[in-house]
Amino acid sequence: MAKPVTILDLQKKRDEGTPITMVTAYDYPTARMADEAGVDLILVGDTLGMVVLGYDSTLPVTVEDMIHHGRAAVRGAKRAHVVVDMPFGSYQGGWQQAMENATRILKETGCGSVKLEGGQRSAETVARLVEAGIPVMGHVGLTPQSVNQTGGFRVQGKTPRDAVHLISDAKALAAAGAYAIVLELVPTALSHMITQRVSVPTIGIGAGPFVNGQVQVWHDILGMYDDLRPKHARRFAEVGDVIRGALREYVEAVRAGEFPTARESFYMDERALDLIRRMTPDQDMSQAEQVLSELQDAPVPGIDR
Ligand code: KIV
Repeated sequence: MAKPVTILDLQKKRDEGTPITMVTAYDYPTARMADEAGVDLILVGDTLGMVVLGYDSTLPVTVEDMIHHGRAAVRGAKRAHVVVDMPFGSYQGGWQQAMENATRILKETGCGSVKLEGGQRSAETVARLVEAGIPVMGHVGLTPQSVNQTGGFRVQGKTPRDAVHLISDAKALAAAGAYAIVLELVPTALSHMITQRVSVPTIGIGAGPFVNGQVQVWHDILGMYDDLRPKHARRFAEVGDVIRGALREYVEAVRAGEFPTARESFYMDERALDLIRRMTPDQDMSQAEQVLSELQDAPVPGIDR
């Protein structure tokens, strides 16, 4: 079995200039497929709220949601490092609250680390968690949990003031001990500058190519939804079309009586069947004993699955 990816491996990749790969996954099958594809990191992101649970934002996601999905994803990942998002309201109340929830997430899911949003404002929390032995991934740029403050899902750091803030945010996270930093929706030149100024891996999403790794949302790169097409995501497949097409075929086949066929059905030994047919529906069970004793001479094959 392949050796599990550690945060030290990620730092080594960054130092050697090997791109780090990360994708979101939210349950056993998606994590298993991501793991089999060889990604370094699986993020059980709170995007869960939008792409899996059907909310308009990530704000309603709870610690219980993250634990439930995180646990399933961890079961699917044999090699990749699994990082679980701390949802809105689980750490903003201060480092003590963060410690309690991060500890729960780590203990109850078996994941390798947690991720939380915010730069300078989250630095003390990150430092406390790291001190307690909890690896933390930071997240700056667009921070979807603050969407009501940032005025929507838009590119961050475009003015000189915002850019300087963003650089300071990333540096504060690195100084606090974050083992990697997600840069979301940041202009390419700025994410490049940040990457040169921090010594831990930067992982971009909509942050261009000059970062140490890339993260993407499962549903975006696999083309699951027609109405969700972020500019930064390339659709590497149209899985949504494949699934919808297959389900339409299934429905039509059932309605037309074409499914199941003999090939998809199970059969009994003819002699056993014959004996059973001799039991009339209103026969009481004591009379059935006679038939059952005959059945002993006619072995019924097991279920042929
Ligand atoms: O929740 C998530 O999926 C994320 C990625 C967008 C980085 O935080």
